Amino acid sequence: MGKRPERSENDRVVSSTLEVPVATAIPRHVAIIMDGNGRWATNRHLPRMAGHERGVAALRKVVQTCAEQGVQALTVFAFSSENWRRPEDEVSFLMGLFLMALEREVKALKEAQVQLRIVGDLSAFSAKLRKAIDRAVSQTASNQGLVLSVAVNYGGRWDLLSAMQRLLADRPDLTQQPLALTEDLLRPYLCLSDLPEPDLFIRTGGEQRVSNFMLWQLAYTELYFTDTLWPDFDDQALLAAFASYQQRERRFGRTSAQLLKPTLAC
Ligand code: IPE
Ligand code: IPE
Ligand code: MG
Repeated sequence: MGKRPERSENDRVVSSTLEVPVATAIPRHVAIIMDGNGRWATNRHLPRMAGHERGVAALRKVVQTCAEQGVQALTVFAFSSENWRRPEDEVSFLMGLFLMALEREVKALKEAQVQLRIVGDLSAFSAKLRKAIDRAVSQTASNQGLVLSVAVNYGGRWDLLSAMQRLLADRPDLTQQPLALTEDLLRPYLCLSDLPEPDLFIRTGGEQRVSNFMLWQLAYTELYFTDTLWPDFDDQALLAAFASYQQRERRFGRTSAQLLKPTLAC
């Protein structure tokens, strides 16, 4: 017979996946891989760049609808650590579009009380882009509404590795006692650790893969895949994803019968 995992000295569970999160009807945190811009454009005999431009417009609308629906946090994948492999002209177009969007959208974000965050390895970006990021982030930092995190030059493996590197830099003693390393110690070093983990993951564009996005944080997230290409992902498509989410039974390891009981053991 197996047994429940042991608890640490201070009686906190050893694995965060053993804690049972609250499940609300509207996902508190939505994570989206915005995929399909290139195909959207190609289908219309347009350059791929036209798809990326339309992608920004789709994001603007999704941000607004998430805020209206009471979503607390929205995290979107805009440029992966692997996207540098794309043709140079597409990469530089995407960087230019990102810069332009940062400058153009900040006013509307402020008005809508959206707090903007940028997550990823920013060291690869030009000084000009980094400055624009700092400016947009600081201008929205005190906003109290939706937390919008844009992942750029982000990879889930980078997130884990850099968290581990920074933890060990702060706590070199852990190299001598590796068993003292716990999830609670590592978690604060991961991106977006102050937010609830995503309840709902959406990937548009038909591919059914995670593509190195939020590998740690998606451990118990409900996954939703749609063939809709990102520029076509509108309110109706978002609400369809929420409706699918509301049909899910989030058991977090328990049985269905346990969910019916008011007090839950973990
Ligand atoms: C997603 O759309 C945007 C980025 C990765 C920057 P794609 O550009 O990947 O579009 P498809 O998948 O080629 O259609
Ligand atoms: C994932 O899209 C990254 C973003 C949407 C930014 P990709 O289109 O680059 O994903 P893969 O490489 O096809 O999995
Ligand atoms: Mg793609």
